[in-house]
Amino acid sequence: MSYTIGVISAEDARPLRQAILRPGMPVESLVYPGDDSQKTFHRGTFDHTDDGEGALVCIISMYDEPVPGTDAPAWRIRGMATLPEHRGRGLGAALAEASIAHAHGIRRAPVWCNARTGAAGYYEGLGFARVGDEFEIEGIGPHFVMVRPADLIR
Ligand SMILES: CC(C)(COP(=O)(O)OP(=O)(O)OC[C@H]1O[C@@H](n2cnc3c(N)ncnc32)[C@H](O)[C@@H]1OP(=O)(O)O)[C@@H](O)C(=O)NCCC(=O)NCCS
Repeated sequence: MSYTIGVISAEDARPLRQAILRPGMPVESLVYPGDDSQKTFHRGTFDHTDDGEGALVCIISMYDEPVPGTDAPAWRIRGMATLPEHRGRGLGAALAEASIAHAHGIRRAPVWCNARTGAAGYYEGLGFARVGDEFEIEGIGPHFVMVRPADLIR
C-alpha cells in the first residue's frame, strides 16, 4: 500500500461525501455552507496501489467556525470519511492530525465536529470529548458535539 495526503477541492470531496455520508440524498446536501470560503480547506488521502496518480480514498474538510453556543474562533471538521475497504489502517487519524496541524499553523484554536454517535469513539481516540447531550440530525441519525482543546499536543 502506498498512500499520500494532498490538497483537494470541495468538488473533489463530493463524490466520497455522497457515497459514504449521504447515500441516496440529493446533491445539494453535499454542498456544505462555507465549502468555498477563503479559510476553508479540504484534504484527501490518495491510494497509489493501482495507478501513479492515485485514487481518493479518505477526505476531510475544515471550516473556520465557532463551537455551537460560543463565539470564540474554532475549527470545525466536516465530511470526514474513509472508503470502507481502506478503513482501520490509520488513514482517517493521519489525515485528521495532518489537517489539524495545518489549521493550527494558521491559528491555534479548539477543533470541533458534529460526530455521528457511531464515530464518537474514533474522535475520542483523537483527543475529542463529547459536549452536551446526544441530538438527532434528520435523515442521518444521532450525533454528539465533540471538541478537542486548542492546547492538546500530540
Ligand atoms: C470514522 C471513519 C472516518 C474512520 O476512518 P478510518 O480511516 O477507518 O480510521 P482509522 O483507521 O484512522 O482509525 C483510527 C482509530 O480509531 C478507531 N476507530 C475507527 N473508527 C471507529 C469507530 N467508528 N468507533 C470507534 N473507534 C473507531 C480505529 O480502530 C483506530 O484505533 P487505534 O488507533 O486504536 O488503532 C470511517 O470509519 C468512516 O468513514 N465512517 C463512516 C463515515 C463517518 O461516520 N464519518 C464520521 C462522520 S462524523
